[in-house]
Amino acid sequence: MRDTGALARQVEEFMARHPGVSLAALGAGEHAGSLELSPFGVPATYLPAERNLALAQQYLALNQLAFGGIGVPRWVLSDLYLLPGAIGLLRCPARLVKPEVREALGLADEDPTIGAAYYAAPSVTPGLFIGVSLLSFLPGTGAAPWVKALTLGMLRARRLRGVAQWDNPSVRVHARLGPLRLVGRVPGGHEYGERTFVYETDLSDGVRVAEAMVRRLYRVPTQRVSVTDLSALSALLDRAEAGEVLHLVPPGVDAGHVLVSEG
Ligand SMILES: CC(C)(COP(=O)(O)OP(=O)(O)OC[C@H]1O[C@@H](n2cnc3c(N)ncnc32)[C@H](O)[C@@H]1OP(=O)(O)O)[C@@H](O)C(=O)NCCC(=O)NCCS
Repeated sequence: MRDTGALARQVEEFMARHPGVSLAALGAGEHAGSLELSPFGVPATYLPAERNLALAQQYLALNQLAFGGIGVPRWVLSDLYLLPGAIGLLRCPARLVKPEVREALGLADEDPTIGAAYYAAPSVTPGLFIGVSLLSFLPGTGAAPWVKALTLGMLRARRLRGVAQWDNPSVRVHARLGPLRLVGRVPGGHEYGERTFVYETDLSDGVRVAEAMVRRLYRVPTQRVSVTDLSALSALLDRAEAGEVLHLVPPGVDAGHVLVSEG
């Protein structure tokens, strides 16, 4: 990502507003030297998964809590998250996270916990990462877009492809990093295939990402499509798969409608 000065200023403000929150990466020890451990100036602690079993277990439990029936199986966590890559974490005292999370994990107020986490898998295309799991238990704080941006900064990602559902609040989080170019349906299908799409975010320009983070990156949508109008949304994916350039423009979704820009 070029020109990250504006992002550095924004994330400094975010960290100052949330004392007790810190950045870490959890992955195989082998990768410690491959990550940028000061993304946008924020110091990150690298935690080798081989020596941080309890933290890996906590991530597993939180992922399953966040995603329910499609939470990550344990072997997928080890073989496809921690061995090839690293999960970005915003850690904090348990008193800051949703009460139901504290209860589910049996945490006391000052116990350290994962407040938000993002995992993007490396791909065989250089610079391209695949967004896999975003979760946050710190609603309304900006932790969700920041854990995503900081993790992608640690990975030095230039492009991101991700999977989302039209009606998930995460679409607004994803659009904090810029317009979402529609790519099409999920290769090989998906549990929620009929309401799911693949998008791509261009991360090469830090100034644009910073503008999007504060919702100053604006393009007038040419169409607003209801998140429940699955036939109209499917037609959009047909057009994207046929090569047409279509974006969801920030904030991505507004009042139950996706904001589409054509051309
Ligand atoms: C998706 C998730 C990471 C969002 O984190 P969060 O902390 O709730 O995020 P925020 O509170 O910042 O809300 C995100 C946006 O959605 C909006 N939003 C929140 N709840 C909403 C709802 N029920 N309906 C519509 N919009 C909603 C917020 O206003 C915010 O938009 P803004 O930043 O433009 O104001 C979190 O809900 C989560 O962990 N969900 C379970 C796992 C999941 O579905 N992950 C996404 C996979 S792609």
